[in-house]
Amino acid sequence: MTTAQSHTPQGCKIPVGILGVGHFAPPEIVTNQDLAKFVDTTDEWILSRTGIKARRRAASHQATSDLAYEAAVQALHNAGVEPRDLDLIIVATMTPDCPMPSTSCLVQHRLGATRAGGFDLNIACSGFVYALITGSQFVASGTYRRVLVVGADVMTRFMNWQDRTTCVLFGDGAGAVVLGPVAPGYGLLGVHLGINGAGGTNLTINAGGSRLPSWSDNIQRQDYYLQMVGPEVFRFAVQVMGEAALKALHSANLTPEQVTLFIPHQANARIIEAARKRLGLPLDRVFSNVEHYGNTSCGSVPLALSEACQQDRIHDDDLVVLVGFGGGLSWGSAAIRWGGLLRES
Ligand SMILES: CC(C)(COP(=O)(O)OP(=O)(O)OC[C@H]1O[C@@H](n2cnc3c(N)ncnc32)[C@H](O)[C@@H]1OP(=O)(O)O)[C@@H](O)C(=O)NCCC(=O)NCCS
Repeated sequence: MTTAQSHTPQGCKIPVGILGVGHFAPPEIVTNQDLAKFVDTTDEWILSRTGIKARRRAASHQATSDLAYEAAVQALHNAGVEPRDLDLIIVATMTPDCPMPSTSCLVQHRLGATRAGGFDLNIACSGFVYALITGSQFVASGTYRRVLVVGADVMTRFMNWQDRTTCVLFGDGAGAVVLGPVAPGYGLLGVHLGINGAGGTNLTINAGGSRLPSWSDNIQRQDYYLQMVGPEVFRFAVQVMGEAALKALHSANLTPEQVTLFIPHQANARIIEAARKRLGLPLDRVFSNVEHYGNTSCGSVPLALSEACQQDRIHDDDLVVLVGFGGGLSWGSAAIRWGGLLRES
């Protein structure tokens, strides 16, 4: 974590909070038993090493913008915000529908968010937390009042279904939030972002960019697939998850004892458990849905946040901590005081 900087948005004039949350996961469920039919694995191995029982897979006609759109519609509805009132749309994804146009443009068009600007943000599985913090800066500065932040990925398109060390881990999903001004003392209180490119080769998709374009000669099929040095990523994740949460908390003069709900990146139940212990949190202060979805990359944190809201696990005045980590290597965290919604004039 040598390259990380901690910042708190204390100097910001306008407190920024989450006005509404939504999520979407494609309906097809792929269980561990389903995977064991074509790759050398077992339900017992996957469950004991990762906590994952099943994941969702997008239908062949579905791409990332389709999942993002559904999550966005739900978040807008829950926030009571019309698409035409959006000022900005940020889509965090590492699996855009295509290199161009930006997924944000596809979502904007389908929503009819005619006034909005937008862009995609790619920092692998940390993307949603980065996009959340980026979007909040526009509201905090008074530049915009309504920002839609979506995290969405269709990871199953980038899996080598013969590679048991990766294909059992990932699934497809999306989550979204609408950001806006909230009352003083609420919203994003502390944030923290970090990257460490030295570890980047541990988690890669090598082809499809400018170094290995899709039309390159001698390109290996596996270069299009996600590749991972699992134990290295595991070590990194166990270290970074708790540390990143602490940095966001400390930047706002908060402590783990004050955390009501910790919502970490849903990559592996053992990584989540290590972070829980590092933070000294009881089991009921950690939210996890990794068993149902696997690792949905940018969808992971907002999908978990949205399900936590649906399950009535978050209430006004609660202190919620979000942590993402992933390829890059990268990580990001945010401590959020829930509630403080303002009456719009
Ligand atoms: C992938 C991960 C679950 C592997 O767990 P692990 O306990 O480290 O297991 P190892 O990689 O050491 O492999 C142990 C053995 O299980 C085997 N194995 C790996 N995947 C398997 C599977 N799906 N089914 C059965 N056996 C499997 C390995 O081949 C290895 O066999 P060997 O000892 O004969 O060589 C773990 O490393 C992990 O979670 N890493 C982080 C992944 C992550 O979060 N990535 C996304 C970041 S955003």
